[in-house]
Amino acid sequence: MIRMKDVIIACDFAGKEETLSFLDRFEGVKPYVKVGMELYYACGPDIVREIKQRGYKIGPDIVREIKKRGHKIFLDLKLHDIPNTVKKAMKVLSALDVDMCNVHAAGTIEMMKAALEGLMRPDGTRPLLIAVTQLTSTSEERMQKDLLIGANMQETIAHYARNAREAGLDGVVCSPLEAALVKEACGPDFLAVTPGIRFKDAAGDDQVRVTDPAGARAIGSDFIVVGRPITAAPDPVAAYNRCVKDFLGR
Ligand code: C5P
Repeated sequence: MIRMKDVIIACDFAGKEETLSFLDRFEGVKPYVKVGMELYYACGPDIVREIKQRGYKIGPDIVREIKKRGHKIFLDLKLHDIPNTVKKAMKVLSALDVDMCNVHAAGTIEMMKAALEGLMRPDGTRPLLIAVTQLTSTSEERMQKDLLIGANMQETIAHYARNAREAGLDGVVCSPLEAALVKEACGPDFLAVTPGIRFKDAAGDDQVRVTDPAGARAIGSDFIVVGRPITAAPDPVAAYNRCVKDFLGR
């Protein structure tokens, strides 16, 4: 298991050109990159067009392109479907040679186990698999009212994390504020991957359960996922370096 802590940049861009020219700004440095729904659906395996226009060549594949440049990739597609569909989808994603994938823990232990099986490559390796507990944009009030989850946020996170561990996953995605809770529920080696990072002097956007990189480090995050505080900064490289310094202490 990877024990090294790292800062993951959420490359939430609309297309290939924008993403690659953003990454070019980092020159020799190869940050860990998160490819999420927007980018993957825009540039990933071009199945929709392929089905419509049989015989046409496959479109640009942003995941392979970023890997070729030497970055590690967290493919953040948050799968949530019946176990068989998730297993088969994970098999496809694993073949892309990504380093980390995720599912919604709400999909049940059976679905998470199926995801893990699907990720296993013929050579016995697989990407890390983590489960989303509750999105960092969800408040306790919304979770209880909209999702009809009666427990409080802390109990829900701990319960979903224990389910993920029981299914054999490597960790969970949660708010940095919940990293200590996750470690307490599932042990120190169970990974806490935490979006919801904001510099102290910045706006929260749509994120609710947030802290800054140094706070995330103190609470016990293994990986912080940072999007807009880096991608929308006037100087993204300086913002990334600030995250690395505050989170990794170097
Ligand atoms: O721009 P920002 O720093 O808010 O980006 C956070 C990233 O982490 C987004 O790509 C979002 O989809 C992702 N994420 C999240 N909360 C989760 C899981 C993933 O914010 N629970």
